[in-house]
Parts: sequence; structure tokens; C-alpha cells
Amino acid sequence: MKKLVVIALAAICALSLFGCDNSKEKTEGDTLVMATNAEFPPYEYYEGDKIVGIDAEIMTEVAEELGMTLEIEDMAFDSIIAAVKSGKADLGAAGMTITEDRQASVDFSTPYTTARQVVILKDGSDIKTVDDLAGKTIGVQLGTTGDIYAGDVEGATIERYNKGFEAVQALTQGKVDCVIIDNEPAKVFVSQNEGIYILDEDFALEEYAIAVDKGNTDLLNKINDALAKLKDSGKLQEIIDKYISAE
Ligand code: ARG
Repeated sequence: MKKLVVIALAAICALSLFGCDNSKEKTEGDTLVMATNAEFPPYEYYEGDKIVGIDAEIMTEVAEELGMTLEIEDMAFDSIIAAVKSGKADLGAAGMTITEDRQASVDFSTPYTTARQVVILKDGSDIKTVDDLAGKTIGVQLGTTGDIYAGDVEGATIERYNKGFEAVQALTQGKVDCVIIDNEPAKVFVSQNEGIYILDEDFALEEYAIAVDKGNTDLLNKINDALAKLKDSGKLQEIIDKYISAE
């Protein structure tokens, strides 16, 4: 009998130790802090002083599914991973592309959508294909995959901006020859600005996912389960369709 009690006590200690160690564990009633960069319509942007968009809505649903409350923290795109790693945020949801480099510091959920990197050009541009980008001045948002891809273009000069729309402004002002950016924001920016258009040829295909700190399997599993439910119920597609009209 005594032996049993000792074993039971040891087990409780071990469990509580484990519980203490895993300080990041989120449970019902907790607040889930989402890091994003709300300069990226239709995924995240301001409507008045409220951050709305596909990621904001998906994560609100995910949080609800988990019995948690979502809190959104707006920051520079290239600060999101650091915020997730430091614990300042629980997750990053920012139209963030799964890349091998990022996978070294964060874990990604199952992808919730596919996307494309496209090239925005100014009317009259001599750029007709992706190959023509060689030697050109390319505008990008700092730290995005557009920024990374631009680095592979031979002889190109890269101009980095904090916000995607600032890169687009630079294009309309003739300060850059083109902008490499995600297709849906590109469509929004092109619709808001005269004299620019999207090149027919895509630059790259990508998948967006939610980032959590590397090794935070508990939260990752919870997010994946909630995402699966939203996919099955059709809610995920409903949110996407609300913001992106079918061509
Ligand atoms: N998909 C690109 C990337 O992951 C751009 C994402 C930019 N997102 C944003 N919220 N500003 O690098």
C-alpha cells in the first residue's frame, strides 16, 4: 500500500513538473495572442480601428472552437516570428508562407490556403515575362517571400518597404520597376491605384499556415484540430469567399 502511495505521489510530482515546464500550454478560457501585420488586405487590414480580414476571421473561429478569446497584435511583418518565439504572441497569422528557413524557428499548422507571388507592373512596362526582371529594381515588403525571391533575380536591385502598399506607391511613382507580392493583396492594390497591372506569369506558388513556437505541439495540435473542423464544416471556405470574389 505504502509503495503505491509513493508511486502515485511520484507520478503527481512528475506530472506537475511537466505542467510547470510547459508554461505555454493554452486551455479553455485563455487568451490567444495572434501576431500579424495588418497591411495585407484581404488577409488582415484595418476597417476603422478594427483589424479584419481572412486571417482575423479564421483565427477568431479557431479561438472560439478552443474556448479561447483572440487578441490581435499588429506589428511589422518581420517581427512576427520573433514575437512568437519570445512568447509575446502565441501564434503568427499573417498570410505567412511556409518556408524551410522559417521552419527552423517555428512550426507551421496545416496550410489553410494556397497563394501565388505575382509581379505588379506599371502601364507601358517593358517587362513581359518573369525572366525580364533580371537587372531591374524590384520593390518588396521587408522580410516577405517576395523579398527572398527578389534576391534570386540576377542583377536586380531590391528596394524594401515596411508595408506592401508603400512598395506599390514606389511603383506608381516610378521609383521601382515592379513589385513582387502575394496575389490577393496585389489585386487589392491594383484596384486601388491607376496605371498598374499584374503580370500574367506567376512568380511562385506558396501555402499559408499559422506559425507557433517551435516545439509547441500542444497548441499546434489544437490549432490543427480546429482548422480541420472549420474545413469540414465549410466555414473556412465561407470566410475566404467573403473576402475573395471568384474570378
Ligand atoms: N506570404 C508572404 C510571406 O509569408 C507575405 C506575407 C505578408 N503578410 C502580411 N501580413 N504583411 O512572406
